Amino acid sequence: MTRTRLVAGNWKMHGNRAANAALLDAILRGQGGDASAECAVCVPFPYLAQVGERLRGTAVAWGAQNVSEHAQGAYTGEVSAAMLADFGCKYVIVGHSERRQLFGESDGQVAAKFAAARKGGLTPILCVGETLAEREAGRTEQVVGRQLDAVLSSSSFGDAVLAYEPVWAIGTGRNATPEQAQAVHAFLRTKVPSETCILYGGSMKAANAAGLLAMPDIDGGLIGGASLAAEEFLAILRAAGSIRVTT
Ligand code: 13P
Repeated sequence: MTRTRLVAGNWKMHGNRAANAALLDAILRGQGGDASAECAVCVPFPYLAQVGERLRGTAVAWGAQNVSEHAQGAYTGEVSAAMLADFGCKYVIVGHSERRQLFGESDGQVAAKFAAARKGGLTPILCVGETLAEREAGRTEQVVGRQLDAVLSSSSFGDAVLAYEPVWAIGTGRNATPEQAQAVHAFLRTKVPSETCILYGGSMKAANAAGLLAMPDIDGGLIGGASLAAEEFLAILRAAGSIRVTT
């Protein structure tokens, strides 16, 4: 069985209409319809219409970075899974560490968002990851296991995507080594369906992508800063596509 290879950009709170247009054009030019690894961009809500118009009919999918756990109603400022589906989203990031740390999302809330995304026909990209203090205390598996179990206790994982994003590697320039990431991916894989695509995220860039993607349980990347530079992003995509992992 061949697992899906996926490289997804998380633009976070970056972009504007002009910069987005230039970035998407460059990605489409360089991507060239090559489908050996799937490619997606997860963009801020206001740009979903722009991104959907540009990417519809291409080999690049798109998604959002957050979703409400509620289906509809009086939830000022929130965006539902049905709204994201209405804008053609395939993916939605759920439980990113910035949402957990800066916006207080609990394991339970992340599980509810995951369930809402699945119910709405979206593919969640569920993020888990430990802080540096947790890693140094030898608690990495306990933390990522707890974060994943919270979701699995209320939903089947289905064809969702899992992303291991060590908090200490995000936006720091300090990526996990391939061996460190592989160890956590192998642990996570014991808990999800065998065909699950498990991404690594945290300071992944062209220079370190090949080493990470050569690991047997690393199926792709969730890319922050490097997804804003087309050449970096495309180089990671090419690295993911050139390494075929058969299990
Ligand atoms: P960086 O690639 O900027 O470290 O961010 C990773 C990330 O948080 C992707 O979701």
